[in-house]
Formats: sequence, structure tokens, C-alpha cells
Amino acid sequence: MACAVYLQHFGLREAPFSLTPDTDFFFADSGHREALNVLLVALRGGEGFVRITGEVGTGKTLLCRLLLRALDGEFVTCYLPNPFLTPSALRMAFAEELGIEFRRNLGQHGLLKLIHKRLIGLAAAGRRVVLCLDEAQSLPDESLESLRLLTNLETEKSKLLQVVLFGQPELERRLARHGLRQLRQRITFAYRLHPLGRRAAAAYLRHRLAVAGRTDGGPLTPRALRALTRAGGGIPRRLNILAHKALLAAYGGGAARVGARHVRRAVRDGRERLSVRGWPARQLGQAVPVAAAALALGLGFAVALWTGLVR
Ligand SMILES: Nc1ncnc2c1ncn2[C@@H]1O[C@H](COP(=O)(O)OP(=O)(O)OP(=O)(O)O)[C@@H](O)[C@H]1O
Ligand SMILES: [Mg+2]
Repeated sequence: MACAVYLQHFGLREAPFSLTPDTDFFFADSGHREALNVLLVALRGGEGFVRITGEVGTGKTLLCRLLLRALDGEFVTCYLPNPFLTPSALRMAFAEELGIEFRRNLGQHGLLKLIHKRLIGLAAAGRRVVLCLDEAQSLPDESLESLRLLTNLETEKSKLLQVVLFGQPELERRLARHGLRQLRQRITFAYRLHPLGRRAAAAYLRHRLAVAGRTDGGPLTPRALRALTRAGGGIPRRLNILAHKALLAAYGGGAARVGARHVRRAVRDGRERLSVRGWPARQLGQAVPVAAAALALGLGFAVALWTGLVR
């Protein structure tokens, strides 16, 4: 996607619809603004746990990056993008983020003591610590529980550590389970990011084109914009993918602007990829036995017909 060949053709400085969560392209839609507000109020108020959820591609990682930028200087921030961490790997990654040097063979008890010492040192220096975990829906239960235990570390007056969990809606379902009720009770602030409305989606697309160098409304015709917002379902990543493909289609056809037919081609292209290359394994797993059963039935029937069993 980075290799947008059409930049010069459309008078763009950089790729407008890259999939990287680049904060320079941030469009301040109401959802992201509110979510950021909730985060800042909760963290400045000393809340132990905050949870942010949203469907795939709605901009959670981007929000996390915006938060880290907003907290810079005010808090010591730690960021763990990788969710597949056992409790001990989680503590090690956190210790590394805190800049603690430790021997790899140090036991968990020793490591926890070092973390505690560092957190107390930072608190004494007036620094508060925030740990942000992206893709938190994939954290094993034991690791979620170990996070809760980490936030138990506190001085008489305040918490030594605050945690923000970013995750897909699956995270809400997991936290609703009985085994995680202690952690659930600690989450006093939560926010769910929703897809953009049609108007906001159009403004989003125009905004990204403006940041990339086309402040005059860009190469999208009004019809193309309408078609994109209809097909994009308000999901920023999907809008990016479709807009990028539509620009490619218009460029390939030598058109000066992107029309609705280019968007239709982009949508078709997406569907074909999904049905041929990207067929989810689970569906394939279900389809294969069904096809095999149908084939066996058909064969059985043919043999029965041939041997005169069925007339
Ligand atoms: N408000 C916004 N302004 C600008 N770009 C946005 C906005 N929201 C999302 N995007 C863009 O949409 C794309 C997807 O965003 P992001 O990767 O943050 O989604 P996500 O919710 O973390 O997805 P996943 O669930 O797959 O981790 C990125 O290119 C990001 O820059
Ligand atoms: Mg993400």
C-alpha cells in the first residue's frame, strides 16, 4: 500500500490511505475525541483500569498512539503491542519498558521486587506510570489476572500503576466471565469506538486527502465519495482500502478523477479476494465436509440408479 503509484498523477505528496495508524492523519471524529477525553480524565483522576473497545479497524491502535503522545512528559508511559504474553513474559516486557535491567534467569519474585522498587522510585519523584496494552482481547486470562495483581502495588495515597486495555469487542465478552470479575470490578471507565456515520466518513476521506496534499477536495467526485461511504460501513480501515483501490483503478484507466465506477471496481475486487484467497479457514473447514457429503450422496444415487435400485 505504501507504494502508491498514483501520487504524482493525483497531485498528492504522500499516500493518503496507508494502513499504518499514523497520528499525522488523525481525523478528530466525535468518537475518537470522546474516547481520548475519557482516557485523559480517567488517568489524570488516578483510575487504575480503563478499557477501550471497538470493532476491527475502527482506530484503536491509532487512539493508543494519540494517547501516548498526549501523555508524554506528564506520565511515564509503557506500551505493549503484543498480546500473546504469559504472565511472566508480561512482567518481563513491562520491566523492560520501565528501563529496568535484570538477569534473564532472575526468578519471578525477584523481578516483581525490582518492578515494585522502580514504581516506588518513580512515585517518589512525582511521576505516574501508565501501561497501555493493545490487542488486549488476546491476552490469556492468567495474564489479565497478573495485570490486576500488578496494579495492587500502591502507596498509602495513590496507585503506582494505571493500565489501559485496548481491544476488540471480544474483550468485553471475556471480561464478563465469572473468573475475571475482580478485574471487571476495577474497570470504572470504559469507552466503545463505533463506526463513522456517512457524513463523518466522507469528511474522513476528504481530511486524509487534504493531509496528503489535496486541500481542494481532491480527486474523488461526489458520486465516488457517496459510493465509498456506502461501501465502507464507517470502518476507517475499510474506507482506506477501498479508497486506495479506487484511486488505483482511476489511475490505471488514465482518468483525472475517481468516479463511482472506480469505487464499484474496488468493491468487486475486495469481494473476489475474499471469496477466492481470503476464505476464512473456519468456513473452509465447514465447507469441505459438506461438499464431501454431497459428493458421496450424488455418487451413491448414481450407483443406485445404474444398478436399478432406484427407478
Ligand atoms: N479517526 C481517524 N483518523 C485518521 N485515521 C484513522 C482514524 N481512525 C482510524 N484510522 C485509520 O484506520 C486504519 C485502522 O486503524 P487502527 O489500525 O488503529 O484500527 P484498530 O481498531 O487498531 O484495528 P484492529 O482491531 O485490527 O487492531 C489506520 O490506517 C488508521 O490510521
Ligand atoms: Mg489495532
